[in-house]
Amino acid sequence: MAIKGVLRAGFIQMRVLNLDEAVQYYRDVMGLDYVDKTADGRVMFKGYDEFDHHSLTLREAAEPGLDYMGFKVESAEILEEYAKQTAEFGLKIEAVPAQSDQPGFGKRYAVDLPTGHRIDLYSEVELAADHPELTNPNIWQHEPKGIGVTGFDHALLFGPNAKDTVRYFTDVLGLSIVEIAKAPDGENNLCVWLTGNNKAHDVAVLEFPEPGKIHHFAFKLESWNDIGRAADLMSINNIKIDAGPMRHGVTRGQTIYFFDPSGNRNEVYAGGYAHFPDMPVRVWDFDHVGKGIFYYSRTLNDAFLTVVT
Ligand SMILES: [Fe+2]
Repeated sequence: MAIKGVLRAGFIQMRVLNLDEAVQYYRDVMGLDYVDKTADGRVMFKGYDEFDHHSLTLREAAEPGLDYMGFKVESAEILEEYAKQTAEFGLKIEAVPAQSDQPGFGKRYAVDLPTGHRIDLYSEVELAADHPELTNPNIWQHEPKGIGVTGFDHALLFGPNAKDTVRYFTDVLGLSIVEIAKAPDGENNLCVWLTGNNKAHDVAVLEFPEPGKIHHFAFKLESWNDIGRAADLMSINNIKIDAGPMRHGVTRGQTIYFFDPSGNRNEVYAGGYAHFPDMPVRVWDFDHVGKGIFYYSRTLNDAFLTVVT
């Protein structure tokens, strides 16, 4: 196994305003597999091409937004090592027992980031009951429903002290910086994209006055054709589209931004280059950020930097 340390962003728990409406949307429109309901009424989902027990949990609440996202690490030993280094770095960290609030998950550590977000680190997750085939595998077992996303891909976090959260991601968790968008002063960073593996990104962090905000969380599709088909299904289902179909300059991914029924911004993401840790960092100056995010229109829409949950 050449990928060490953090394997991927593997999990996210989000708040929604109406659970029944959200289940209908994430299951029937996005095409995620409904896994199960927890004892306290949260609902778990996974993409059809994912092996872990689940990758999305929804919790009904008065406000939409992020509860926390999880990063899967390579082993229980590395998990303990990261916990030690996280405490030494000065962040609040708390152990979450195995098989507690996230069924199927082993021991986790909840970490409070300087940007006001919680992330969880974990190394063990049960194999999903309905996982991709392992012997003479077909491309899927059950034809995917709706948009048919294959799995969870990444999230963009907004908060203050982004520099410190990025430093934690690189210095403690060993993530690589893939691309940077500079702030107007040309010195500080506006946004930093990071990965723990071969993907173009697992997480991005943008400097923002309010703590703990999420701009979007993204699901994978295979191709530009799938992005086009997703746009068709969004119109058919009256999904509110924010931007796209389009391409990002950053990561080169093909994309649509849109909103779930609670106002959380979603993305479907295809393409994007393969990252290798010896690649130099690509940098966008502030005057070219529009092109970096919206490669074809080359200007950000008004909602992009202001609407968050
Ligand atoms: Fe994204």
